[in-house]
Amino acid sequence: MTTRTVKASAGKKDLLDIATISRAEMERLLTSAVLLKEKQRRGIPHPLLSGKTLGLLFQKPSTRTRVSFEAGMNQLGGHALVLPMGEIQLSRGESVADTARVLSCYLDAIVIRTYDHAIVEEWAREATMPVINGLTDLSHPCQALSDLLTIREKKGRLKGVKIAYIGDGNNVANSLIEAAAKMGMVIALGCPSGYQPEQHIVDRARVEAEKTGALIEISQDPHIAAKDADVIYTDVWISMGREREHARRLKVLAPYQVNSRLLQRAKPDAIVMHCLPAHRGEEISAEVLDGPQSVIIDQAENRLHMQKAILTNLLGKRSRTKR
Ligand code: CP
Ligand code: NVA
Repeated sequence: MTTRTVKASAGKKDLLDIATISRAEMERLLTSAVLLKEKQRRGIPHPLLSGKTLGLLFQKPSTRTRVSFEAGMNQLGGHALVLPMGEIQLSRGESVADTARVLSCYLDAIVIRTYDHAIVEEWAREATMPVINGLTDLSHPCQALSDLLTIREKKGRLKGVKIAYIGDGNNVANSLIEAAAKMGMVIALGCPSGYQPEQHIVDRARVEAEKTGALIEISQDPHIAAKDADVIYTDVWISMGREREHARRLKVLAPYQVNSRLLQRAKPDAIVMHCLPAHRGEEISAEVLDGPQSVIIDQAENRLHMQKAILTNLLGKRSRTKR
């Protein structure tokens, strides 16, 4: 995670994108998530963030991200405070800068879910507390980090594991590409023209891939992408904020459904992943999503454990000078 020098907060860390996390930090997060998961499962208390308060500011709906951060903070002995958008002055035109500076006096970190990625960057510049990206139109780093945990649990390793991402090359795909590149994996995308992942993210990931031996393969053919994959991954065709493109997206993306026929292209022991929420019958058939190769519930559970690792990494044993 980048160490930023920001006004009154030299040394604070944010989590805005996978690109700002080193491979070593990602390994540490994975190790920490495994330990925290074990503690949670065995009922061993782990109040590592007692006395800390996490803010949650969501400008888009959320089930997993919001609840897992809130529950995770409670399990760590801290407190989570949901800031309903309509109930804070930001909704009446108060600036991000003023809001970020003021909330930094009360909170120890904040998770932001919003539209334009530039908004979380502005929060990170202005806040003296760590800012965590809880999803933007560009990326979803907490999802990708959690997914690495799930893949490693199911496949026993990350290096060389092949992920086939099928469908819309969206925020989830962007972060998955960067995570796979950092960990030396193979990621093959099958996305239609006009729905390919963000080019600057792919370019940035290719630089990482040079160092780690990762392979990033982008095609418009889902059957090529899925060939011999260890992981078949998909996400909704209509991301939050894209509702007006509904009809066109359903048409263009129809040949990209993850179904039993496509799954047959993957290795026989391939796992099926979806960040959820899912639309059965659109990006994935019900028989595959609910079938024996699907790991979607374990995948969703791991959001909790990885995000607890992220919180302890950003907030644990840190002495922050408030303004
Ligand atoms: N996968 C994910 O981020 O889910 P939510 O939108 O429910 O948070
Ligand atoms: N791509 C989806 C992910 C939801 C978790 C969206 O942005 O709506």
